[in-house]
This record gives sequence, structure tokens and C-alpha cells, in this order.
Amino acid sequence: MASIGEVALLTAVLIAVALVFVYTLRLGAPPWPTSPRARAALLAAAPEPGDVAGEILELGCGWGGLALALAARYPSHRVVGVELSPVPWAVARLRVAAGRVPNLEIRRADLHRVDLSRAGLIVCYLHASAMSRLAARLRREAGPGTWVVSNTFGLGDWHAVARHPVGDPFGTEIVVYRLTEDRYSGR
Ligand SMILES: C[S@@+](CC[C@H](N)C(=O)[O-])C[C@H]1O[C@@H](n2cnc3c(N)ncnc32)[C@H](O)[C@@H]1O
Repeated sequence: MASIGEVALLTAVLIAVALVFVYTLRLGAPPWPTSPRARAALLAAAPEPGDVAGEILELGCGWGGLALALAARYPSHRVVGVELSPVPWAVARLRVAAGRVPNLEIRRADLHRVDLSRAGLIVCYLHASAMSRLAARLRREAGPGTWVVSNTFGLGDWHAVARHPVGDPFGTEIVVYRLTEDRYSGR
């Protein structure tokens, strides 16, 4: 016979799994983390801290692993991880609190509603339709010089300044963009 504690724990786990499932359907992307290999490639492909003017946004930060790595790579920048799915968001918040990372904020929000105008670097691992929406908003809102570094998914027909194959069996690549002075011709 299970104790009340065991029943409560099992119920909490089932609710968490159900929430992850529901939000995966709603957002069109599971909270699948960037692999350690892709993370290393992404951090190597990302611009030097001195070349990033503005805050760093990780759009759809999942469980927070990449956001923590970004905060360590850019200790003098404010890093904001944005996540809407409640369970990964809560875990990311706990990880940041446990690690006492002063330059990292984990925000529960829809990435399509986040202000992009102050970003110097935007990092993401999303899906094709989210990237199309993001491309449209970047044209309107992001300032010249803003970097975008994406795991796997590109910004449609925008011209990438670099593509770095990760070297894994899935053919993953890290795609790097930089908005030009005339943001409408940054493609
Ligand atoms: C493939 S995971 C990537 C997680 C993390 N960025 C990484 O690379 O390890 C994509 C994440 O984006 C989140 N996401 C998708 N659409 C979103 C939206 N509209 N607003 C906020 N988060 C979103 C998902 O919940 C998921 O956690």
C-alpha cells in the first residue's frame, strides 16, 4: 500500500508530465535541450563579448542549461531566458536560484511578445514557423548590429554570416546572423 507521500509525489510527477505534453502541443516544440556538443559549437560560434552591445536573450530557454552557459560566457552582460512552458520554466528558475547567477533572469513569457529592441544577441533553438515569425519581428524591432545565433533552424532566406556544422550524426548546424545597418536588406 502506497503512503500519502508517495501518492502525492506520483500525482505531482503525472501533472508535470501532462503539463509538458500540453505545452509541447501548444507551442509546437518540446523542451528538448541543445546537446552538449551543439552547445559547445554554439558557444564557440557566438560573438565575442566585446562585440555584443545590449542584453542577451535566449528565446525558449527550456530547462535553462544553455542560458546558464550563456551567463557564464558573457559575465558582464545581462542574460534573459524566456520560456512559456511552466515546468521547464520552474526548473530553470530553480537552477538559477541554486547557482546564484547574478546576470541571468529566467522570465515566463511568450517569446513572440518579448521586446527585441534592447537585444545585442538572440539565441534560439526553436522550429521553422517560430523562426519565420521571429524574422518578421527582427526586421521591425531589432537594432542594427544585433546578432542571432540559432541551433538548427534558420531565418528563412536571410543571409547567414556563418554556418558551423556540429559534427553530430543528425547534421546539426549552428547558424549565425547579424542585422545590417539597413535592417530590411539584412537578408
Ligand atoms: C527545443 S527547446 C530548446 C531549449 C533550450 N533553448 C536549449 O537549446 O537547450 C525549445 C523551447 O522553446 C520553448 N518555446 C517554444 N515556443 C515558445 C514561445 N512562444 N514562448 C516561449 N517559449 C517557447 C519550448 O517550450 C521549449 O522549451
